[in-house]
Order: sequence, then C-alpha cells, then structure tokens
Amino acid sequence: MPASLLGFDIRTSSMADKIPLDADTIVLDVDLGNGENIAKLAAFRKAAPARCKQIFAITKGNLQEELQATTLGARKTIHRPVGDAGLAKIIEDIRETAGILTPTACKTVNGAAKTLENTFARFTTNKPVDLGEVAATGEEIAKTIRNIGVNEWLSTVRTYHHTTFQHILIVTGLACAFATNMGMRKADIEKLTTAGLLHDIGKVDIPASILDKPGKLTAEEFDVIRTHPGAGYKFLARQDGIAEDVLDAILHHHEFLNGSGYPDRLAGDQIRDLTRILTICDIMGALLERRTYKEPFTIAESLAILLQMANDGKLEMVLVHALGRTMEKNVNSIQQTPDESLIALAPLYQSPVEAR
Ligand SMILES: [Fe+2]
Ligand SMILES: [Fe+2]
Repeated sequence: MPASLLGFDIRTSSMADKIPLDADTIVLDVDLGNGENIAKLAAFRKAAPARCKQIFAITKGNLQEELQATTLGARKTIHRPVGDAGLAKIIEDIRETAGILTPTACKTVNGAAKTLENTFARFTTNKPVDLGEVAATGEEIAKTIRNIGVNEWLSTVRTYHHTTFQHILIVTGLACAFATNMGMRKADIEKLTTAGLLHDIGKVDIPASILDKPGKLTAEEFDVIRTHPGAGYKFLARQDGIAEDVLDAILHHHEFLNGSGYPDRLAGDQIRDLTRILTICDIMGALLERRTYKEPFTIAESLAILLQMANDGKLEMVLVHALGRTMEKNVNSIQQTPDESLIALAPLYQSPVEAR
C-alpha cells in the first residue's frame, strides 16, 4: 500500500485501531463471511467520524459478499485487491464531490507539492535547496491565485492531505494573496512566497507522532516543536542566495509582538514587517486546516481569533485587518453578500491556537 497517492495520505490499519479524525474515506477490506468480523466491524464503523465515507472491498463475482455488504449498509463497493488504481479512482471521486473543478489550480498544487517533496528531501540529505525551483513554484502560485482567487486555492489545497505540505501551501497562498492585495512590490511578494514555502522546513526532523498527535502536547513535546524554526534557519543560512529578511521570517515566524512567542522571545520592533505578515498568515492557515487534534475553523471564526490575538498584543492589528480585507474580497464574490463584513459578523473567540 503506498504511503501517499495523488496528494492523499494512505494509511493501513486493523479494526483494533482508532480511525484518524481527519480521514476522508475508509476502505473496509474485511472477510464478511466471518461472523466475528461483523461484530468488530460494527464497532469500528460506529467510531468513524460522521463525515468519513465508508467503502467496502469485495471480491468480484462473489454475490454473497456483495449482498452482505449491502445488508451492512454499503453505499459503495470496490473490487479486491485494493491497489493504486482503485484508490486513485476513490481519490478522484473525493475531489469531484468537493467540487475541485479548476485543472490549473490542481496542476499548480501538484507541481508545488513536488517542489516541497524535493526541497524537504534536501534538508534530510543536507544538500542545498534548489532556490530556482522554489522561486518558480512561488511565481506559479502567485499567478494561479491572481487567476482563481485565494478561496478556490484553499479549496484545492485542502484536498492534499500531507499535513505539513497542505499547511505550507495554504500559508503561502494566504501570504501571496495578502501581498498582492496590499499592492506590495513584486520583489517583496517573491520574498514572502519563498518564506512561505520554506518556513516549516525544520519540521522534517520532528516525529509525526508529535506533529500529528491528537490532543494536547506535553511540555516536552512542545519543546521539540519549538526547535523547528531554528533548525530550518540553521540549514538554510548555510547556503547563499536567500535574502536576510526571508531567513529572519523563517527563524521568527512564531514570535509575538508582546514577547510571548518563540524561539527568541522577540518583541515589538525586533520583529520585522515580512516576519509579522508571515506569522499572521501562518496562524490563519493553521486555524483553517483540519488537524488530527482539531476541526477547521471558518474564515470568519479564524479572523475573529486573529483579532483577539491582536487585542492581546500578540499580532499587529493593522495587518490582521488587511488580511481580513484580503479574505473578504475573495470570499464576498463567491459566498457572502457584499454588505456583510466577515470581521463584524464573527463572534470573538478565546484563542485556542497551539502553534505547531
Ligand atoms: Fe512553524
Ligand atoms: Fe507554519
């Protein structure tokens, strides 16, 4: 079974395992002729998240099994053996159902995911990153977002289930849309997209058991998470060609204006503009994503949380409002009536952000 296919994580588990909260679809490949399995299967399926589709694997031509699957409520079946081709078809269906209809966006996301794979592999093998490839990917993302808007970008990227890659593509897209909407110079937009694509490269060394841990991290685990900005910076600073403020944004994207962030507890003017923008887009991205430990927030809820964080002195209010305008501009045309303000509509939340 592949570990990932077409941007989706593929995991194999037994009926004794817990189903991950972020699972879209479960393929149940179980011997339905065995009575003991049926009871176990019922408990397993009951524990599945409500949004998770369940597909039964059956043997072609085995009418008894097909009947059994139907009796158990199977809406959809695939034929054994469950391999790449069957899984690819399922993934196609998920994308179609999610309404991912923009082939250009899919192509850009596929290309960007490939760049991230290559780039992250360089970290593992301690080789310099291909900055030309990163810049070209950044440019492609910027072009795609100019064409389709950030909202559709987010919908497309959400279908890519490698947690860290999805996060990076969301953050980069948000940063790009923000910079474009603010009328920033082309050179600064490029810096921001490069910083977005590289900001979490230091996560390569962090075990998935910590990164994707459902539930709260222990103090020790959070200490491990805190190492990623420094690890990424240390690796990238060794090579030429990365602007100093891009490196700074990578090292300090978890700092807060009131000095409560990490790794250096910087405060106020010690945090540069580019870094402040990346931080806001990073948090917005994390809030919008589905993680193993939380459901996604809506855009309005996420903006309300960012506003609360600005009120608490962590983020710059002007930039949070600017991100709000960026999202409003893109979202209004699609799902909001023009006189509704996303920010005014949203209730204020206490920040639940555990910055991983
Ligand atoms: Fe990070
Ligand atoms: Fe991040």
